[in-house]
Amino acid sequence: MARRSWLVPAAVAAGLLPLAKLAFDGATGGLGANPIQALLDRLGFWTLAMLTATLAAGPLNAQLGLAWPLRIRRALGLLTFGYATLHLVTYAGVDQALDLRAILADVVKRPFITVGFATFLVLLPLALTSTDAGVRRLGFRRWKRLHRLAYLAALGGVVHFIWRVKADLRQPVLFAVALGLLLLARLLPRRPAARTAGRAPRPRPGGEGGAAVGDTRPAG
Ligand code: HEM
Repeated sequence: MARRSWLVPAAVAAGLLPLAKLAFDGATGGLGANPIQALLDRLGFWTLAMLTATLAAGPLNAQLGLAWPLRIRRALGLLTFGYATLHLVTYAGVDQALDLRAILADVVKRPFITVGFATFLVLLPLALTSTDAGVRRLGFRRWKRLHRLAYLAALGGVVHFIWRVKADLRQPVLFAVALGLLLLARLLPRRPAARTAGRAPRPRPGGEGGAAVGDTRPAG
């Protein structure tokens, strides 16, 4: 397939749109009566949405034979981590005004915060090893095993969301269903067409077919 050099920049630009909208709403008073909470909620939502999109790349290739999702997977994984970091920074720096004692008390006393932190800690090594050097250092097999933790992070994100939501569970349940379907898709045999149509180089984070958070199955 012809190399589409615009694909990754287009994916990154699309992935940054929610952030641009957030900045616009923030600057124009569009975040409502409690802007800090709105900021936290939207950044948390997009963290989970980007993570789900990252995890969908493998099954889209394996079951539908699409090659392009693998090409943007690394970018999606890094966008996930970017949103997660902004979410954490907003919580620690803005919501809690960097009061480490209050943050620690929150982590210990509020299970949904405990799970949020744990989930961020799961995402951290995935982001840190998403470079070519990361794959080389770990060796492909170990690297692949490590990156399966992206599913654990998604589960953590869903639990965090469910525990945070007080009444309307529709959104977290939708994420839970999506995650369940993605896990089920991993159990299905890879469609033979996917091997050729979706063939991409071994996960090589810096290049096409590259890998990052959520990248656990090489094409082919
Ligand atoms: C780094 C540690 C984390 C902390 C301290 C944290 C904290 C928070 C807080 C304070 C809220 C808002 C609660 C409220 O509105 O009352 C929230 C919402 C949320 N967070 Fe986190 N979070 C963390 C990590 C994560 C991660 C890693 C994910 C996703 C994988 C995530 C996904 C969400 C979601 C989906 C929401 C709710 C969004 C909505 O209501 O639309 N959080 N988080």
